[in-house]
Formats: sequence, structure tokens, C-alpha cells
Amino acid sequence: MITFDSVTKRYPDGFVAVDNLSMEAETGQIAVLVGPSGCGKTTTLRMINRMIDASEGRILLDGADVKEIDPPTLRRGIGYVIQQAGLFPHRKIVDNVATVPYLLGWDRKKARDRAMELLERVGLDPKMAQRYPFQLSGGQQQRVGVARALAADPPVLLMDEPFSAVDPIVRTSLQDELLRLQSELNKTIVFVTHDIDEAIKLGDRVAVLRVGGRLAQFADPKTLLSEPADDFVREFLGKDRGIRRLSFVSSEHLRLRTDLIVPASSPDTAAAPGAWLMAVSEDGRPVGWVGRDEPFGTYVHGKDSMRAALDAALLSPSGQAVAVDPEGRAVGIATRQALDEALGEAADG
Ligand SMILES: Nc1ncnc2c1ncn2[C@@H]1O[C@H](COP(=O)(O)OP(=O)(O)OP(=O)(O)O)[C@@H](O)[C@H]1O
Ligand SMILES: [Mg+2]
Repeated sequence: MITFDSVTKRYPDGFVAVDNLSMEAETGQIAVLVGPSGCGKTTTLRMINRMIDASEGRILLDGADVKEIDPPTLRRGIGYVIQQAGLFPHRKIVDNVATVPYLLGWDRKKARDRAMELLERVGLDPKMAQRYPFQLSGGQQQRVGVARALAADPPVLLMDEPFSAVDPIVRTSLQDELLRLQSELNKTIVFVTHDIDEAIKLGDRVAVLRVGGRLAQFADPKTLLSEPADDFVREFLGKDRGIRRLSFVSSEHLRLRTDLIVPASSPDTAAAPGAWLMAVSEDGRPVGWVGRDEPFGTYVHGKDSMRAALDAALLSPSGQAVAVDPEGRAVGIATRQALDEALGEAADG
């Protein structure tokens, strides 16, 4: 666990970049620092590995004051990833990844084996290992940056806007990859971004900072969206806060109608005249609305969020969503009325 205990950073010119910050980054979780440019995110992050020293207050790493630990020892346990990866241009990818193991005096073979294993872990083709950084795309370089930070298996990972220099599609896949990696590795990660969507997607807890380095709110994403602490946080979260909040509401309480599901082989249209009926194949998969050549959308009932259910409903001109189980078999129809009711409850709760 990383603990900030009333931490202030005053730069030599008197400028206060971080003001009396107290928060905790839990072990094995992702804590995100988010806020506008200049609000002190990078300063906060760098105080953890002592690239910058705090002026007042204490930062504890599993209870030990980082001021008491000499920087090289401290940094051995802390991986650091920055924007545009910061790779050494004249070193091959494999040697970039093995940087810290080499510094730690591992033998070359062991360090390179570790680097190759990590390249695979972050989703890179082993063939890339012999290339130089300029021969990789921006997204690939970011993956190398993550692999390099993980090389000596540090328990803590600091990431400063690692994905902000790549296009939105690559960015999404890097985010998904990080979440996948984290589910295997359970590092204590402090992740800096100025993108609230990224913060909400990645953070177990999100710290919203305002300019002047003051903490506006520190909460899990769901709480942040449902109970923003003040107007600054509300504005920072943006206008579509309501829709985004539905990502954290389960679809499990949606009332489903099973009578609107009929076998494709012998659809009985008499039972519910005028209703949109979903025909299913012999193994239960939805195939289409009976008698209508219109699209439909599905969501996994109980697993996907209300946002996904709503999205599925909006894909169909019927305005209703097809609920499926994890195997893709239709389990019912969420009608407009059922969606209405569930949205009403979500708004109350
Ligand atoms: N060495 C320094 N001396 C004086 N002021 C500094 C110094 N380094 C940073 N600052 C100021 O401290 C504030 C916080 O900087 P910091 O880099 O932590 O912000 P940030 O939140 O990471 O911003 P960005 O989103 O633009 O990366 C800024 O106003 C910056 O100008
Ligand atoms: Mg910064």
C-alpha cells in the first residue's frame, strides 16, 4: 500500500504543486490520478519513487517512509512507465526490456529470457525483439515500455499518461491489455491520466485533483459518477455522467419476458399479437425478429451492465434488448417497459 500523509510539494520558486494531499493506493489495485493539466499529477507520482522529494508530509510504502529508503533501492521495487515509452533509441527492443535486470547484474541469458517472456506477455511478436524502437509503432513502443517496467517484477508500477500519445483504437486495446495483465499480476499501480473515461475504466479508485494540487475527491468510479463531491468534479466528469454511470449498474434486475421467445422452426405468432417475437435456433440462439427483417441487439443478462442492455435495445427498431446467457442462448426479452422500470430504479439508487 502507498500512503500519502498530508503531502505538500513546494517548488524552489515557491509554487505549490501539491497541497496537503492525503490518500492511499491499495495493494494490488489501480489508483488513478486524474485532473487538468498542471494540477500536480506528475509531481505526485514522482514523489513516490523520489525523483522529486516532498516538502512536507510523508509518503509510506507498506508503512515505510520513502525518505528513509535510498533511491536506487526504492526504485528497484517500482516500475515506471511514461508517455512515448522513453525507450533507448540505440538499443534493441530485447535489451531495452532487459535494462533493469542488466543493472541488477542478472546474467545476460537470464535477462534476455525474461525480456522475451515479457514481450509475449504484453502481446508483442517475439520477432520485434531484434528491432530498434524507431522500427515499432507508437502503440508497440508503449507495450515495450510496460514490459520494461515489469522486467524485475516490481510490486509497484507508476504510469504517467502511458497511453496518451496513441490513437483511440490502439489506446483502447492497450487499456484492455493492462487490465488483463493486472488481473494476472496484481501490482499496486498508480496511473496518471487527464482523460476521465480512461480513469473510470482503469481505476479501482480515482483521485480527482484540481489545479493547485488539491484533492477534490477520491472514490471508486461508481461513487464518483453517482455522488460527485462538488461542481468541479461534476464538470470534470462531463455531461454524459448519467449514461456512464449505467456501466456500473447490473442488468440482473431487468425483468425479462420469456413468452416473446419462440422457436424459429414453428413460431407461434398468435400468443402475443402485434408484439415483436424473437425466433431462436434449435440450440437457443437468437436468429431474428419473427416476420421482420430488422436488426436486434443482445447483452449477457446479469453479467453485462445496464448500459450494455440499453445499447442493445437501441440497436433494434423494436427498442427492446435480447437477453442471452454467457453461451449466447436467448433467455428473454427486455421490453421498453422493463428497461424504463430498471432505469427508474437506477436513477433513484
Ligand atoms: N521544477 C519546477 N519548478 C516550479 N514549478 C514546477 C516545476 N515542475 C512543475 N512545476 C509546476 O507544478 C505544477 C504541476 O506540474 P505537474 O507536472 O505535476 O502537472 P501535471 O498535472 O502532471 O500536468 P500535465 O497534465 O500537463 O502533465 C505545474 O503548474 C508546473 O508548472
Ligand atoms: Mg504530467
